Amino acid sequence: MLQTRLRRPRAAIGASIASIAAAGLVALAFAGCGIVGPGPVSTVGEVSFDTPLAIPPLAESTVDADGTRVFSLEAMAGSTEFTPGVSSDTWGFSGSYLGPTLVANRGEHVRVDVENSLDEPTTVHWHGMHLPAEMDGGPHQMVDPDGTWSPEWDIDQEAATLWYHPHPHGETEQHVARGLAGMFLIRDDAESALPLPREYGVDDVPVIVQDTGFSAGGEKESPQRGYAGGLGDELIVNGTRGPYLDVSDELVRLRLLNASTARSYAFTWADGRSIELIATDGGLLEASVELDHIRLSPGERAEVLLRVTPGERVVLQSRMTPEVAGLVAPVASMNGGSDAFDVLEVRAADRLDPAQAIPERLNAIAPFDEAAVATTREFVLNDSFEINGESMDMGRFDETVTVDTLERWVVENDTEVPHSFHVHDVQFRIASIDGAPPPPELGGWKDTIFTEPETEYELLMRFEDHADPDTPYMYHCHLLWHEDQGMMGQVAVVEPGQSATMTGETHHEH
Ligand code: C2O
Ligand code: CU
Ligand code: CU
Repeated sequence: MLQTRLRRPRAAIGASIASIAAAGLVALAFAGCGIVGPGPVSTVGEVSFDTPLAIPPLAESTVDADGTRVFSLEAMAGSTEFTPGVSSDTWGFSGSYLGPTLVANRGEHVRVDVENSLDEPTTVHWHGMHLPAEMDGGPHQMVDPDGTWSPEWDIDQEAATLWYHPHPHGETEQHVARGLAGMFLIRDDAESALPLPREYGVDDVPVIVQDTGFSAGGEKESPQRGYAGGLGDELIVNGTRGPYLDVSDELVRLRLLNASTARSYAFTWADGRSIELIATDGGLLEASVELDHIRLSPGERAEVLLRVTPGERVVLQSRMTPEVAGLVAPVASMNGGSDAFDVLEVRAADRLDPAQAIPERLNAIAPFDEAAVATTREFVLNDSFEINGESMDMGRFDETVTVDTLERWVVENDTEVPHSFHVHDVQFRIASIDGAPPPPELGGWKDTIFTEPETEYELLMRFEDHADPDTPYMYHCHLLWHEDQGMMGQVAVVEPGQSATMTGETHHEH
């Protein structure tokens, strides 16, 4: 059955991995094709938690005469001591690893002056942001070495935890793994009116989780490759190895971002208390949800609340299992789907500032009216790193959408291995998963979802503004190796009756 989907030599490898792995003969399959998975990893009980969690600085900004809030970011090479005294070559934005946190308010006009001091081209993509395609920082907005790029747009979406990272076609995995990533927080009046923790780095804390390997000499290095992509055998949080976080508030908000290239996590508290989830990719849920774990695939975010008692220590872990990953055991074990990690230790002070009661209702999320769907499209993820049988071609528009119409996108992972699906410009809702309503943690605004094998996801979305027949937005698997291999497509948003016109050449900024 799998053979009917083969289209090119690479497909034979993918299909044979999937089918043989499913039959339980993983070692044979992986040995035969040169892909060697790292096997199950556990760091539980082995992390010393002896280093204070680094907090990315807040990005400074100025406000122009015309009211534009202006930030600047410089992509640069540097070196980072993940272990004291041992330096490792890394990249960062305006620093040696990761980047500052940008904060802007809904309704503001922002500009980011991006400078590329690397010796190769890169881009800066605003993941989760609603903005014109030209400002999106995808593979069509390359910034050459010593070049600059100054995208500007209106912040026009609800309060959320977004992020930014490079998107150069074929190189995204490398650029992110070297350290180019940061958070972009949006605030608005509705969220600000809630008594939620919001003192940055104090009771409202970014938690950027990445897996990595370290060489014997302490260099951060490209980890071994499973079918999902590069998998490291330990975690760093905000670039910190063995992190702990001191808190002096009873109620703490953690903004979890999976900025790993391939690994998915199942975050949970070591002592078994529930995860109190309040927000997903695009904003607050209608009400908080108590979960045993929250699964985050690369690119996804979750805001969680933690309530602590004086003096206690609470450990955030990730405990992935084949069930949680939705993978058959042999595929899980080669792709991080059986791995467990100690992530971060939260240490409560002996005296804590009390928390206000959090209201039950956090947000109002109007449902999409399915009867208004204008177009239904299907997206099939296959074993050849293709979507609908096509590999990414920057010169081809795969889809053309009419601005501000309701779209139904049916996404199917037609393989036995993990994939995901991310759409630029929009926040979408999951209407159904294999015909059933989504679980509450997937009921709010999303821009990236993990797609379990042989499962169909029905998404509803509206590309509200910014018609541009010349410049596409991307949609893709956010396992970055897959994306780099071509598991990506392009969608143009046009005015009614207009058709998309591909102008061809990637525009380079000088
Ligand atoms: Cu976070 Cu197209 O990416
Ligand atoms: Cu994105
Ligand atoms: Cu994929």
